[in-house]
Amino acid sequence: MNNIDLDKYFKPDLKQARKRTQSSIEELQFDIGDAHQKIGLGKTYKIDTYGCQANEADSETMAGILELMGFIATHDEAEADVIIINTCAIRENAESRIWGELGRLKNYKRQNPDLILGLAGCMAQEENVVERILKKYQHVDIVFGTHNIHKLPEYIETAMFNKERVIEVFSREGDIIENLPKVRQHKFKAWVNIMFGCDEFCTYCIVPYTRGKERSRSREEIVGEVFELVKQGYQEVTLLGQNVNAYGKDFKDVDYTFGDLLRDLEQTGIKRIRFTTSHPHDLDLKTMEAMRDCPHVMPFFHLPVQSGSNPILKRMNRHYTKDSYLAKLNELKTIVPGISVTTDIIVGFPGETEEDFLETLDLVNLAQFEGAFTFVFSKREGTPAAKYEDNTPEDVKKQRLYILNERINEGYLKGNTRFLDQIVHVLVDGVSKHDDTVLAGYSEHNKLVNFKGDPSLIGTIVPVKITQAKTWFLLGELA
Ligand code: SAH
Ligand code: SF4
Ligand code: F3S
Repeated sequence: MNNIDLDKYFKPDLKQARKRTQSSIEELQFDIGDAHQKIGLGKTYKIDTYGCQANEADSETMAGILELMGFIATHDEAEADVIIINTCAIRENAESRIWGELGRLKNYKRQNPDLILGLAGCMAQEENVVERILKKYQHVDIVFGTHNIHKLPEYIETAMFNKERVIEVFSREGDIIENLPKVRQHKFKAWVNIMFGCDEFCTYCIVPYTRGKERSRSREEIVGEVFELVKQGYQEVTLLGQNVNAYGKDFKDVDYTFGDLLRDLEQTGIKRIRFTTSHPHDLDLKTMEAMRDCPHVMPFFHLPVQSGSNPILKRMNRHYTKDSYLAKLNELKTIVPGISVTTDIIVGFPGETEEDFLETLDLVNLAQFEGAFTFVFSKREGTPAAKYEDNTPEDVKKQRLYILNERINEGYLKGNTRFLDQIVHVLVDGVSKHDDTVLAGYSEHNKLVNFKGDPSLIGTIVPVKITQAKTWFLLGELA
């Protein structure tokens, strides 16, 4: 296959994806249509999900669509008729794993030429990825991006009956599709998208290109979804967005933002409300006050800081300084006493000096984070930082990560120790991986708690007295 017409496909375009216009966002309704409903009868599917909660939620939608088409889920790759890899592009190592997976799956395609192999998610939004798939991964049948999951029935139909490859990735800013079916992973905890996209354009980050313009779902849709979840017995929702603090800022005719949404969801009867992720620059007083006033909004906040050095923050395009971040954090801790705060930090951003890194360590000490996801900077093609001069050796970056992690781990332990001898309330997730007489779940402050109990408690919220605090979890007994 040397003469593939690379232009016949709808391929991604990062320059196009960067554009943001004032055009209004359309709300469209998903409809499966009769023709697609029986295509999957007697057939099975498997979805492998990488990346963040946005992808977890998207995979639930893909599963919902496939099941409407008649497919049923399988865990067995050898048996599956459709395999979809929902990919993440955030760092190079995330992508390397997926390339490896795609290579491995080629064997199944050899055994079963009718197998339909699909690549979805953020990697599909990248030009270089799609070019490589076209040229070197002939066994991938369908490539679709984050904006056109609703068109999956068409793609499956084309791949199945016309035996054609389907490559369709939109780089436009995106609409909102409602009425999407979902097969949720959990029976009592649910993801609820409140907005899509990101307009922050942090200079290292690929997400604004892979997820498009910031667009908020309407209050009615979100509240309606949570009401429905309560009716079905759900205990907890996690509101999802790349920057939930910007929720509603795109509404043209109403003044309705994240704090208002929290207050409305408080009234739905859902026991626990969580959210992720927040940008410090958009976190406002209204949100903090809503957290203070709404007992069902959990006292936990993931507030990515990325760096403690002002010059680095500026080059990251983060719109705050070390001091303004700390001031906001203190305000949050004053308004919501006892709140647990975690963060994300990148080390080895291009041009990060030892002095910059020490600023980050200082910020970690001052902020008293109770946990963090820490990363070494990874160059993402198409982002501004990919062109920044970067002369810090890789082993220095790794050393910085190691030192940072040591500090962060002290924070984890300190954050757990403050609950010794106290009663916390745990939403029981399941039995512990190591001992099936032990239950595991998360407290209000998002601490993992293990305690002895009967599996009938799974899915309920129970009081647990904490008897021991470890770095990664708490031990307790039913109170
Ligand atoms: N919208 C969210 C999540 C973004 S991705 C937020 O702003 O917090 C999660 C984390 O991945 C980011 O917070 C950042 O710390 C990290 N990250 C993003 N791009 C990266 C890159 N190019 N290299 C290393 N880490 C990166
Ligand atoms: Fe990426 Fe920044 Fe948007 Fe988060 S806020 S998704 S780090 S661009
Ligand atoms: Fe990865 Fe896309 Fe999420 S790049 S982190 S799956 S938004």
